[in-house]
Amino acid sequence: MCESDFLKFLLTRRSIRKFKKKPVDLNLVLKILDVARYAPSAKNSQPWEFIVVTDEAVRERLSRIHMWASPIRKAPIAIVVVCDKDASPTSYHVDCANATMYIMLAAHALGLGTVWIQTLRNIDEIKEILKIPEGKIPIAILALGWPDEKPEPKPRKRLEEIVYMNTYGNKLLK
Ligand SMILES: Cc1cc2nc3c(=O)[nH]c(=O)nc-3n(C[C@H](O)[C@H](O)[C@H](O)COP(=O)(O)O)c2cc1C
Repeated sequence: MCESDFLKFLLTRRSIRKFKKKPVDLNLVLKILDVARYAPSAKNSQPWEFIVVTDEAVRERLSRIHMWASPIRKAPIAIVVVCDKDASPTSYHVDCANATMYIMLAAHALGLGTVWIQTLRNIDEIKEILKIPEGKIPIAILALGWPDEKPEPKPRKRLEEIVYMNTYGNKLLK
């Protein structure tokens, strides 16, 4: 893969919220999680663990944690990224966000679709559903499956709005 192919790969990832009925082989999920282990983390603390949820009843409960969680029901698999606060006290959120992003990109590389489902306002409920112990936090849930839609890219801020030179506010691009 040449450099421009990889940039194209990054730019073609989309959040996918509609999935084919086709199942996803668990070996593919393991392949993806194997890649996620290589995400960077503070002091290489790797404060992540993953719960692969195939059970329909469990996915149904997770899909009701809030009004934007319905893709969890529509996808054949959900992956919950569980983070150990004590393993990386200052950086666990960002460490586990890195692992989550690696999962999304590895899935994309295999032609699978994902969408990140917000967990942070519903931590206790999710912990109860999944029997997650004290000190561990579900940082993200990813709905995962074969895409059944091709969404247009979502609008992005222009570089002119967000890039500064040397100090904040000194725009690099006018
Ligand atoms: C932290 C975070 C929480 C998100 N929560 C949800 C969610 O609960 N439900 C949902 O459908 N999408 C969710 N998304 C997906 C975003 O809406 C999506 O990434 C954004 O609109 C950009 O679209 P794109 O991923 O297709 O580029 C979340 C994304 C992130 C990073």
